[in-house]
Amino acid sequence: MNTNPNYQQGQLHWDGVSLANLAETYGTPLYVYSRRTLETAFRSYDDALAGMPHLICYAVKANGNLAILNTLARLGAGFDVVSGGELARVIAAGGDPRKVVFSGVGKTAEEIRYALAQDLVFNVESEAEFDLLAELARRSGRTARISVRINPNVDPHTHPYIATGLKENKFGVTPKTARTIYRQAAALPFVDIIGVDAHIGSQITTLSPFLKAFERLLAFVDELAAEGIAVSHLDIGGGLGVSYRDETPPTPAEYLHALRQRLGSRRLTLVVEPGRSLVAQAGLLLTRVLRLKRTPVKNFAIVDAGMNDLLRPSLYGAWHPIQAVTQREGKPERWDIVGPICESGDFIGKDRTLHLQTGDLLAVGLSGAYGFALSSNYNARPRAAEVMLSKGQAFLVRQRESIADLWRGESLLPKKSHNLIYP
Ligand code: LLP
Repeated sequence: MNTNPNYQQGQLHWDGVSLANLAETYGTPLYVYSRRTLETAFRSYDDALAGMPHLICYAVKANGNLAILNTLARLGAGFDVVSGGELARVIAAGGDPRKVVFSGVGKTAEEIRYALAQDLVFNVESEAEFDLLAELARRSGRTARISVRINPNVDPHTHPYIATGLKENKFGVTPKTARTIYRQAAALPFVDIIGVDAHIGSQITTLSPFLKAFERLLAFVDELAAEGIAVSHLDIGGGLGVSYRDETPPTPAEYLHALRQRLGSRRLTLVVEPGRSLVAQAGLLLTRVLRLKRTPVKNFAIVDAGMNDLLRPSLYGAWHPIQAVTQREGKPERWDIVGPICESGDFIGKDRTLHLQTGDLLAVGLSGAYGFALSSNYNARPRAAEVMLSKGQAFLVRQRESIADLWRGESLLPKKSHNLIYP
């Protein structure tokens, strides 16, 4: 089943819906999500793990829209959260908190108390966090269910900003420190040891780093078992890459079959935390060409989506496919597709060969992951609207922000303090 956008009579459609019509109805910039593509991606994970205990904890940070979370919750997904805010989103979207894992190096006492009440699994990232968690569990009379995040010191061969499993990264603890934490935890009545966890990075396009990390985790689990400390779940994190351009990452099935094979006869629930590989393909960003500007050295197409809407090109030098919504005859030219933000680092794509006219619409592909989620109000720009396509219809799943939304919660100083500080 083709889940990619495709042209019908020269007009780009997705799941039978005309993108030009969506732009007309909802305006641009607009994030468009395909429920069908999302479900297909989830099923590719779920099917590959059929017949064995498993939990697919979608990494909410990739795209936290309630409709996305709800769609996945209805398919049986669990969730990986990294803040109290993400946990609240999961609950608001109908997710089951018992299927949530809580990662992150900086959990606050308030977040921990909230999470303890939800009975989720904490992915503990340091000894100090464990001490605080144990203390808060003791005081609240609740049980802390824990995994310790091991830093397996594996190079994921990805952009340095999104490598997390190297010993110089801030994430997780060494196996030695983890062992100390497990021994302490085993002695505490209000701490339940559930599993072992790792996450080595994102946009990983080969199997070998995953397998290296997985083997280190398995060896660690076996060592714990030899000490009499049993775990029931093994969480390998997320990180499977997608093909933005010419990358050839393993499919979820290839990846998961390789893990299953190495698991052998161990009776463990396999937990994965995919973000990007579930939602990237399920989203595109629709933007309109505001102006064409030719300079002696470059052609710029200035579009109405900027780095505040899609930060990945500016922050990581990421490449996203860009397609014209209306196919045109004639000779294409080379364009830098840039936003309206006052920074030269504000670009969506460079050196793209397209036939463009002012007012044309462009679809920026594979924008479902870390697209809207990384958006901001920089340059006082309201954030984009989001729609989800389902069964040939479009549903608005997030309204476009209004100008008044931009200063919600702000206030002026009280009148009586209005004298100048430096007269
Ligand atoms: N689990 C943990 C603990 C994570 O930190 C992450 C992502 C994931 C799971 C999901 O990884 P994924 O399957 O999406 O690769 N903003 C960057 C990506 C940051 C990833 C951060 N952690 C980007 O746009 O490329």
